[in-house]
Amino acid sequence: MKAIAVKPRNPNSVHLAELAKPKVSDVPNGRGVLVKVLKVGVDATDREINEGLYGNPPPGYDFLVMGHESFGIVEEVGPNVRHVKPGDYVTCTVRRPGGSIFDRIGHSDMTSDETYFERGINLLHGYMTEHFVDDAEFVIRVPAALKHLGVLAEPMSVAEKAIQQVYEAQRRLQVWEPKVAFVLGSGQIGLLSTLILRLRGVEVYTIARGAKPNLKAEIAEAYGANYLNGSLGEIAKQTGAPDLIVEATGNSAIAFEAMNVLGRDGAIVWTSITGGQRKTEVPTDKINLEWVLGNKLLLGSVNANFRHFEAGISDLAQGEIFYPGVTQKILTTPVNGLDNYREMMRQLVEAKEALKVYVNVAEG
Ligand code: BGC
Ligand code: ZN
Repeated sequence: MKAIAVKPRNPNSVHLAELAKPKVSDVPNGRGVLVKVLKVGVDATDREINEGLYGNPPPGYDFLVMGHESFGIVEEVGPNVRHVKPGDYVTCTVRRPGGSIFDRIGHSDMTSDETYFERGINLLHGYMTEHFVDDAEFVIRVPAALKHLGVLAEPMSVAEKAIQQVYEAQRRLQVWEPKVAFVLGSGQIGLLSTLILRLRGVEVYTIARGAKPNLKAEIAEAYGANYLNGSLGEIAKQTGAPDLIVEATGNSAIAFEAMNVLGRDGAIVWTSITGGQRKTEVPTDKINLEWVLGNKLLLGSVNANFRHFEAGISDLAQGEIFYPGVTQKILTTPVNGLDNYREMMRQLVEAKEALKVYVNVAEG
C-alpha cells in the first residue's frame, strides 16, 4: 500500500513509499484494531519535519511515514477489543509508551524519558497511508455525527490537554476562576483553544498577526471571542491583564513577551514547538519581580493521551451545539489522494491562506 514519507533530517524529501498492509494480528493479545484511513491532517510539526529540523525514522528504515492527525473507519478488530467495532469512526493517539512511571500509568504524554515514540513524528511510522493497525488502547471512537470534524480530533486533544493542565495546576489557588484569557495565535491550536475557553464561559481575546477581516478572525468571533492584532502591551491596557494566556504562535519571542502582560495569580501555557535557533532579549528583572510578587505560573504542555482525545471530541460536539457550523471552517484546504503528496506539501509550506491542510485518503 502507498504511504507519504520523508527522509528525516533531509530537507524537502517528501515522496511516495510502499508499505505492506498491516494485519490485526500484528498487535499481541487480540487487541489489534485495523483502520482504513479516511483523512489525515498536517500541521507545523510536519512542516518542520519536511524542513529537516525535526523527526526520526523508525529503526531499520531510512524513511518515516508522515501524519499524526488521523481519522478513519474500523475494518476489523481482534478478539479482545471491546470499545470499538467494524464500521466505527475512530482517531488514534500519537505517542506510544516508553519506560517511565508516567508511561506505565497511561500518561505517555507526560513521559520523563528523553526518547519519545510518536507515530508520524519520531521513531514510528505515521498514518499517511491506506490502512494502519494499532492497539485498542490508543484508538478513540468518533461519533458518526462528528465525522466532518474527525480530522481535528488530534489538534483538539492537544489544546484540550494544555487547558486542562492549566486548570489542574491552578487548583493551587483553590478559587481560581479565569475571567479574561488571551489566546496567542490563530492557527488550529489557537482557534480550538478559543473554542474550549468559550465553552468554559471565559472572555477570550484571540490575538494574531493578520488584520481583520480574515477567516481566522471570522472563526474566533463566531465562537464569541474578540479577535485583535497589535502589541500585547497595548491590548492588555484595554482589556486588563489576562488571568490565562494560551501561547500557540510558534514564535518563542512572543512566548516570552506574553510573560510581560500576565495578571497576578495568572498562568501561561506554552504549546509551540520551536525547532529553530531564535534568540531574543528579555527584561529579566521585571519579569522575575512580577512573577514572584504575583504568584504567577508558566507551564509547557505537549501531546495528549486517550482521555484528552475523549474530552476534545466531546468539546467538538458541544461546539457544534453552541456554535453550529463554525469549526468546519478551519478545514480550508483538502488535498485529494496520497498521490498528490507534492501538492499537500506545497499547500502546507506556501499557501498563506491555508488554515488547515489535510489529505482525503479515501471516501467513507
Ligand atoms: C503533535 C503532538 C506531538 C508534538 C511533539 C505535535 O505537532 O500534535 O502530538 O507530541 O508535535 O512532537
Ligand atoms: Zn500536531
